[in-house]
Amino acid sequence: MSVMTPVSQSTATQNRGRESAAEKVGAPGVNRREFLTYAWGTALALISAEGGLATYMFMMPRFRAGEFGGMFDWGPAQSLPDVGNSPQNSPDGRYWLYHSEQGVKAIYQVCTHLGCLYKWSESTNRFECPCHGSKFTADGDYIEGPAPRSLDQFVVEIVENGQVVAQTTEGETAILPPQTTNPNAEIHIQTGKKILGKPANTSPARAITQAFAKKIT
Ligand code: FES
Repeated sequence: MSVMTPVSQSTATQNRGRESAAEKVGAPGVNRREFLTYAWGTALALISAEGGLATYMFMMPRFRAGEFGGMFDWGPAQSLPDVGNSPQNSPDGRYWLYHSEQGVKAIYQVCTHLGCLYKWSESTNRFECPCHGSKFTADGDYIEGPAPRSLDQFVVEIVENGQVVAQTTEGETAILPPQTTNPNAEIHIQTGKKILGKPANTSPARAITQAFAKKIT
């Protein structure tokens, strides 16, 4: 059985005092355990906030509606040009809108050869590039010239009651435009979603032109 002398009692009291002081950090009433708990909580909250912000930024569209790279709202289907009419220029969206028998097309205005801006020629009823003479049909199909493929297209969406019910898709041999019979359906053009034109040697317009040229020679 040990007996505490006045000296050892004093040492024990001093040790308890030191432990107590070591647990107190900074503000009165906050001990070390509480301080560490708060620090961990704050760090976790910051990490969660950063993660949430990153997810939010990722989910947010990078371009606003009506800005190239974002969505362009053409309006209701009843405002589309009649089927077969000349393509309509949308300079802000950098596309030609063409209402073909197959559906609605938004054709990118940049030539697939070296990137010049081609024009619609009313007299020849086709797109013609002033740089090296590539030519394309109103559908965007390659006819002739050094361009390696038909014209690229943006995805067109048919929207009903806020839902996309049809959209441009990439077929094996052609880009397939969406159609609608609902005059109130909204037409959206997604200029951030581009589908590359098909290779020139698979273009139906090229085959027709070559067959015609053979006939007259
Ligand atoms: S850039 Fe159009 S034909 Fe060369």
